[in-house]
Amino acid sequence: MLHLHAVSRAFELGGEKAGVFGVSLDAPEGQLTVLAGPSGSGKSTLLNLAGLLDEPDEGEVLLDGEPVSRLPEKARCDLRLRKLGFVFQAHNLVPVLSALENVMLPLQLQGASEAEAKRRASEALDRVDLSSRLHHRPGQMSGGQQQRVAIARAFAPKPKLILADEPTAALDHAHGGPLMALMKTLAHEEGAAFLVASHDPAVIAQADRVARLADGKLIAVEEA
Ligand SMILES: Nc1ncnc2c1ncn2[C@@H]1O[C@H](COP(=O)(O)OP(=O)(O)O)[C@@H](O)[C@H]1O
Ligand SMILES: [Mg+2]
Repeated sequence: MLHLHAVSRAFELGGEKAGVFGVSLDAPEGQLTVLAGPSGSGKSTLLNLAGLLDEPDEGEVLLDGEPVSRLPEKARCDLRLRKLGFVFQAHNLVPVLSALENVMLPLQLQGASEAEAKRRASEALDRVDLSSRLHHRPGQMSGGQQQRVAIARAFAPKPKLILADEPTAALDHAHGGPLMALMKTLAHEEGAAFLVASHDPAVIAQADRVARLADGKLIAVEEA
């Protein structure tokens, strides 16, 4: 699904170069791939390249075999909407909308009617075990529940690839593992590729594959 081919993206920091350097990596369908590594190792930089939010200096990002990293912004935006889903650390739900309305948003952006969006959003929220919270606003839910809404919003449009940057960072330790177990089940049952950046051992423990980064370089890929 996603293939990163020798991508590099460098930032100058006081004469020193930081970023990612010559990383080649796949995120296969139906699997949870975790990008692990200490803070500053390049996880977010790599996710931004994979999510077509940033362009590599060298190398290429391929989606379904097509080179996409240097397409014009409009075309990349279109691909993000049609093929990708995003889950961020926290606080990225629209606070004045209910859980159901938050999940309906990307479906309506894709052109679904209100009734269709409502049906698919309810299904997605049911999948993350939040059927009883459809009409709650984010502020009326726990951090773990909010992240489950964010996951439902990311996968409701049936993207091929879901990207998540430190999705458990705002949760207590006890909630990180179950959230990732849920993502893994969705990867296996819905067939999407999940690529998750994290240094949380509870996240890494759930991975089908772990790609380890250090100083911007890929140092190992371990299959669970
Ligand atoms: N926009 C930027 N400008 C300058 N340096 C950056 C920028 N983004 C990332 N970096 C640097 O690149 C390195 C990798 O950062 P990042 O990808 O955020 O790491 P991680 O997500 O693993 O903590 C760090 O040294 C960071 O300071
Ligand atoms: Mg980061």
